[in-house]
Formats: sequence, C-alpha cells, structure tokens
Amino acid sequence: MCGITARVGGDGSLEPLLSSLQNLEYRGYDSAGIAVQNGRGIEISKFEGEVSKLESELADRDHDGPIGIGHTRWSTHGPPTDANAHPHTGCQGRVAAVHNGIIENYTELREALQERGHEFTSDTDTEVIPHLVEERLADGLDPEAAFRDAIDQLEGSYAIAMIVDGEPTVYATRNGSPLVIGVGDDANYLASDVPAFLEFTDRVVYLEDDDVVALTDGDHRITDADGDPVSRPVDTVDWDPEDAEKGSYDHYMLKEIHEQPVALRQTLHGRIDGDDVALEEFPPGSFDDVDRVQFVACGTSYHAALYGEWLLSKDGVDATTYIASEYAASPAPVDEDTLVVGVTQSGETADTLEALESARERGARTLALTNVIGSTAARTCDDALFIRAGPEIGVAATKTFSSQVATLVLLAERLVRDITGSPTSDHADRLDALASLPEHVESITTDSRAADISQRCLGDNGHFFIGRGNAFPVALEGALKFKEITYGHAEGFAAGELKHGPLALVTPETPVIAIGTGHDEARLKSNVTESRTRGAPVIAIAPRTASDLADVAEEFLPVPATHPDLVAILANVQLQLIAYHAANAMERSIDKPRNLAKSVTVE
Ligand code: G6P
Repeated sequence: MCGITARVGGDGSLEPLLSSLQNLEYRGYDSAGIAVQNGRGIEISKFEGEVSKLESELADRDHDGPIGIGHTRWSTHGPPTDANAHPHTGCQGRVAAVHNGIIENYTELREALQERGHEFTSDTDTEVIPHLVEERLADGLDPEAAFRDAIDQLEGSYAIAMIVDGEPTVYATRNGSPLVIGVGDDANYLASDVPAFLEFTDRVVYLEDDDVVALTDGDHRITDADGDPVSRPVDTVDWDPEDAEKGSYDHYMLKEIHEQPVALRQTLHGRIDGDDVALEEFPPGSFDDVDRVQFVACGTSYHAALYGEWLLSKDGVDATTYIASEYAASPAPVDEDTLVVGVTQSGETADTLEALESARERGARTLALTNVIGSTAARTCDDALFIRAGPEIGVAATKTFSSQVATLVLLAERLVRDITGSPTSDHADRLDALASLPEHVESITTDSRAADISQRCLGDNGHFFIGRGNAFPVALEGALKFKEITYGHAEGFAAGELKHGPLALVTPETPVIAIGTGHDEARLKSNVTESRTRGAPVIAIAPRTASDLADVAEEFLPVPATHPDLVAILANVQLQLIAYHAANAMERSIDKPRNLAKSVTVE
C-alpha cells in the first residue's frame, strides 16, 4: 500500500502532485509528503496526517518547481510521524525517494550503511534507498547507474520514485508493487494507480517488474534490469475523471453505493445473449479442459468468491474458495486441469498475487477477475475477466462487490456449461433476472429505509449478520462493511451455526440482521425465532414476498422479488446503506477508516 506519485514538466508540480495524492489517499492516509526541485535544491514537506494537512501547511510556502515526487503512507515500518513520512533523503540531501512496498533486507542494509557512517532520521525501511544512492553518487556514478546499483541491493517488494538534486529527471522502478506512467501533453506523470493523474491525462503506460524509468519533461525512457531499452505500449483508459470525484455526495462510499445500477449496467453490457452468456473473452468451450475451480481472494473479494463457489457448487462444479494469504503457505493440490480464479478489485493485492503465483508455478491455469485493466493480476494471469465497475475510491468496497458477483454469475454459466455439458439449472430465469439487476438495485438506492433502521445499530454490544446459502457470504460481507466503517463489533455467520456457540452472545442489546433469499426460508425463520427468544432485535432483509420473515422479525427491510440466487446481491445493498448511515451517525471517517487501506500491496 502507500501511494506514490511523480510529475515532470509544466509550470509547477505542487498543485498537480497534491491533487494526485488526494486521489491516492485510498491507499493510505497516515502521513503525506512531497519533494520538489526548484533551483534551490530539493525542498521537502511532509507531515503526519492526511493530504489536507500537507496542503494547508504548504499554503504559506513558496515551494514549487517543475519536478516533484509525492507519497501518501500506510505505515508498516515505524509509527505515523512526521519523521517517518516520505519522501526520505540521504545524509547529504542530494536524493529524495518515495516508496511503496517493503524492503525485506533493510535491517542489514541499514546496519552496513551505519557502519560506513550514515545517519538515519526515520524508522522506515525506505530510508536505506536514498542513502545507498547517495553513496554511489559520491563514488562518481551517474544518477541512473547509482539508482540501479541501489535497487540491485534491495530484496522485497517495491515501487520507488526518486529525484536527484540538479537532475531534470525522475527515476523509478517497480518490483511487485504497481507503477503506471501517465503521458501528458505538457507534463509526464508516474503513480501507483491511474486515478492519480486521470484529470491530467488518460494515456497510460503500465510498467512491468524490473523496468527502470527515466521520466523527463518530454519523454519516458524504459529499460530492463540489464539496462536494455524496452518498449511498452501507450494505452488509453476510458474511465471518466468525474467517476473518481465525489460530486455532490458527502462521501465516496455513498456515491459508489448509488453508482451501482450504472456499474452493473457496464458489467453486464453485451454479456447476456438470450438464455446464454456472451463473454467475448470466453466463447463456449473455453473451459472444456477444466475439472475443478479454486478461488483465491481477500476481504470483500473473498466474500464475492464464496458467492461464486456457491453458484458453481450448486450446479455440480467442484469449487473451493481460499483466503489468499493462507493459500501459498499450505497450497491446495492443483494440476493443469485446475482453474485458479483470483478475485481482486485492484488486481494488486499482494496476498492474492502470491496465491496466483503459487498456483501458476504448480501448473494450474489462472484467471484474474478484476476491475483494473493493466493491473498486475490481469497481466500475469493466463486470462482476465473485467468487472467493468469503474474506479472505486472509498476504502470500503461497495459497487465492486456487486459487479464482482454479477460477473461471477456470468462466468459460472460458462464454466458450468463447459465443465458439465449442461447449462445451469434455471439458467433462463436467472439470466433474465440478472439483466434486471441494475433496475432492482436502483429501486433500493432511490427508496430505502436503511437510514432509519441503522439507528437501531448504534450500540456497542455487537451486531450479528446471518444468512444461509448465497446469503452466507453476504452476511460475512455485511459484517465486514459494518466493522470497517463503524468500528463496531460485527460478525457474520451461517445462520444454522448461530446455535453452535454465537447464540451465547445474543442478548436484547445485540441486533441480529437476518438475510433471506427464498432458499431455505423455513430454517432461517427458525434461526430468527431463536434470536428473538433471547430478546435480540432482529432486522430481516428479504424479498417483499417473504411475509414469514417479516412476521417474526422486529424490523423488515424489503428488497425487490427476483431470482433467489440473486436476492443476496440486493440485500447486500441494504447492508451497505445500514453500515453507511450508522457510521455517519457516529461521525466516523467513512471513506478513510482507521488503520485500513484500499489496496494492500504488502503481505
Ligand atoms: C483491502 C481492502 C478491502 C479489499 C481487500 C482486497 O483489505 O481494505 O476492502 O476487499 O483489500 O482487495 P482487492 O483489491 O484484492 O479486491
């Protein structure tokens, strides 16, 4: 995590760098800093806190120049302090560097540098980089050679951007952490992600691991680890810059919840053809050789993957979901007939990339189901399927979950047909309902009582989310959303599991939120009754037609009646709204919850 950015060219870098950092804050917001070259040497400003603090501190300073780098931090090594904020410099202040990732061998590098007389001013792993470069500059190497020499000594994952006093160039590289060039008319950009510079240019160059970039006013020169020139295509991204702005909404999260109908229309556009799917990337027969499917994912994407597993299993495909951070350490058996699907919004989550790599090394076929074209997952997997949800800025994932699950419904249809030789049961009705999903979501986002109901969820004794079948992953997701942004204790359970332990925690002070889909309704009703008997206020979310649940619950939040396989996606939208309004009432930092970041590029 952490976001890095750089800019070369034009009149002044300060404003564009600050704007880029604001767009990268979803990657971390413990501290922010910039370094600018302006003829008086390298000037650095960096502070604990959000980019807004840096911006207000810079308001009174004459601190601008044509070349600059910037950083927004999610702390790994050392607490969030001014001293640990990036950019970091060496002893002589000749070099300033920003870094995203972890330098695993920093302790030995730091000790060796200290023995050679270097003094350190931070606790970070990053600070070894400018010291190493300055040392080689002092030996007479030119900046690019000094940079290469430094990165040759690094072990771990990193994206680094660096400036050298008096040099009109930003030097940068990546290894396991994302880095993209933005090719502008008046200036060139570098950043961890495209939204950082989308307001300035939509022309991007995705870098590969070990690429070394020399970015100047009018050029971007890319070489490989040996110094040989490499050519990378300039792509045009079709994200609208306004999609990455908050507009009239109070929070990105609320905006993104309301964007779901549009996002889903994009996800589904051209992909349903009567009672079959039309996936451009995967014509019929694409998965004839596959005999089992494994999903690897983290966080919200893990819950979407569990939904995908449920869809496949119910139609006879061998499917299992793994928490990505556990997968590489105790890998499940794979062979060439195993399809390993990495579900990852960003396509950059280190745990998911490692799991995919482990599967690939052992011979499995890999597929990235992601939102980000050009992401590492999309580029390193054998295949990619894009969810087309548009940029998501709020740290708590909302619209991307809906688009992931909708994409998994499409993928499941293709997989089931190819693997079992028959379509999914009820395929025509389900695809019909899928086509109506955007309007069903819209009816919730335009008219929901979730804001009122959320006022019942402001206590601090815990909140339990329960569901069966496809509502189970949504119960997990509802609890995750709630805890992420309210900081209240919330747990999701398979409804039938409540009586096997968690019921001990259920009291009149612990709201239970039950999600009904139409599958297994009678048994869910029993679980709700068990909770009511212990005095718990139960909020049921289910189709309007589920009168049984409405009768036993204290509150009933309806969703449109649709195919039961898809109802849980609609219920999840109500859960997003409950979490949002509860967090808003508690005045939480909704778009930037404490300790979290949207894109976690460390393991
Ligand atoms: C982080 C975010 C979560 C996200 C998870 C996986 O933990 O805070 O919201 O679900 O990463 O991210 P991915 O980009 O792989 O979907």
